[in-house]
Amino acid sequence: MLPTDPFSFGVSLPGGIPTRYDNHITRRLSSMPGQFADQPAYAAMLAQEDVLLYEVYEIVRPHVAGELLHGTSIVHPGQVGKEYFMTKGHFHAELETAEVYYCLQGAGMMVMETPEGEWSVQELRPGRVLYVPPRWAHRSVNTSHDQDLITLFVYPGHAGHDYGTIEQQGFRKLVVERDGRPQVVDNPGWRPPAARS
Ligand SMILES: [Fe+2]
Repeated sequence: MLPTDPFSFGVSLPGGIPTRYDNHITRRLSSMPGQFADQPAYAAMLAQEDVLLYEVYEIVRPHVAGELLHGTSIVHPGQVGKEYFMTKGHFHAELETAEVYYCLQGAGMMVMETPEGEWSVQELRPGRVLYVPPRWAHRSVNTSHDQDLITLFVYPGHAGHDYGTIEQQGFRKLVVERDGRPQVVDNPGWRPPAARS
């Protein structure tokens, strides 16, 4: 039974674990085939260990328009080849829904794009609030070498997730390390978006 009364909770740092949550979701390297540009590096890494890339702690709310789903996202530091660890990334199934991210710890970037192929990359660092407007797919990338990237997210209860589009076409931009610094580069494997309504 989900609470109907107001409630509050804390987020402990550096772990990023809420003091109350309903679901703990973990995503490992094996859950992202074809998503990292350097496929030989991906295969070699996976052969060694199915590394934990990121975790999500969800506060569950009813999946209806008036509710707000929220929780924390923790992307661990690391690279596949030169590409930083990142989340799968998704459009919202209900495309006309937005999301807010508040960065609690670490350093990273949010890579975003629309179904029409417009793109944007915004920096995530502690204290920064990021607004992802309706229609923009989003993926967080941890550009730190040693710190978890921790964000608090909030999005409408009816938004849903469309992971399949990104799994098929990728994001237009990648974040890779060049000369010791994160750089946004074209994704050579990106395919123009399929026509979406
Ligand atoms: Fe989202």
